[in-house]
Amino acid sequence: MTYVADKERYSKMKYNRCGRSGLKPSALSLGLWHNFGSGDNYDNMVNMITTAFDNGITHFDLANNYGPYPGSAEENFGKIMANVMKPYRDELIISTKAGYTMWDGPYGDWGSRKYLVASLDQSLKRMGLDYVDIFYHHRPDPETPMEETARALAHIVKSGKALYAGVSNYNADQTKKMAALMKAEGVPLLIHQPRYNMLERWIENGLQTVLEYDGIGSISFCPLAQGLLTNKYIHGIPENSRATKSVFLTPEKIKPELIEKIVKLNAIAEKRGQTLAQMAVAWNLRGNKLTSVLIGASRPSQIVENVKALENSEFTAEELAAIDAVLAE
Ligand SMILES: NC(=O)c1ccc[n+]([C@@H]2O[C@H](COP(=O)([O-])OP(=O)(O)OC[C@H]3O[C@@H](n4cnc5c(N)ncnc54)[C@H](OP(=O)(O)O)[C@@H]3O)[C@@H](O)[C@H]2O)c1
Repeated sequence: MTYVADKERYSKMKYNRCGRSGLKPSALSLGLWHNFGSGDNYDNMVNMITTAFDNGITHFDLANNYGPYPGSAEENFGKIMANVMKPYRDELIISTKAGYTMWDGPYGDWGSRKYLVASLDQSLKRMGLDYVDIFYHHRPDPETPMEETARALAHIVKSGKALYAGVSNYNADQTKKMAALMKAEGVPLLIHQPRYNMLERWIENGLQTVLEYDGIGSISFCPLAQGLLTNKYIHGIPENSRATKSVFLTPEKIKPELIEKIVKLNAIAEKRGQTLAQMAVAWNLRGNKLTSVLIGASRPSQIVENVKALENSEFTAEELAAIDAVLAE
């Protein structure tokens, strides 16, 4: 397959500095948690990656366990790199993570040096890469001393297998502690990856203050609440939507009260001249607090639609108040 990248792509995107680092990820990034597993359509995957890239998305986010089966998203991404994207490696920020259950026995989970180093080696093999740009500890480990996890992340960066290191799902205090430990190891904590969207705003209560103070970037996952913050569930659950096929978003979670809110948010988005998905992305980026918004997609057209959020990413005080009023109901 030959692929000629669209030379205009960088003019369609914004690139935000990640905390106090030299790295500028794209304002929208694409995650491979869903729709890149062993049972998914390969051509669609290629189309999503090339569409994202052609629209200025340079950052692709993976984890050791993305699939299903765990590891298959990295294998598929590795195929796409080998077949299509290899010439563009230096234009890409590729991340992966370890922290959830990956293999049997006591060394395939959580936050030990043993697990993190071995997992990254496996991820690099699956993706056919010499290094990733960002390696994350995927979730805090209540048992392993954080000092060990910090030393392992620093070791990984110093070994050249990752250029930067980040954490995900850490609370404010854990993040503060990890940032200090990594600083002592001589490797700054580049970025935090938290869940954040209009329906889930926990990072506003402390984490964002820590990130700003310590100069750490942030990239929000599930910015569309897995598709809830779009117009797709307003009239029921469409065939092939995530709610029909993922254990992470089940029909029981789509309650009438939630749909009522979504209908009202959709009306605010329409008034702004954009779709709810676009407003949800723009809302995440408001005030320049986040470095990037990490979207997922099941088809290329969603990526094109979501990138267009950048065409109207400013909010008036009245619009923000109207959104807050709906969310508070
Ligand atoms: N660090 C962590 O612990 C963690 C956890 C979860 C996710 N993540 C990362 O975050 C990434 C994104 O998560 P996510 O996929 O849940 O993000 P999301 O952007 O909240 O949801 C993406 C889903 O919404 C639907 N969608 C997207 N654009 C749409 C549009 N314009 N109109 C209608 N529907 C649209 C699609 O689902 P349909 O299939 O219904 O079309 C798509 O797969 C993941 O891939 C992963 O990289 C990280």
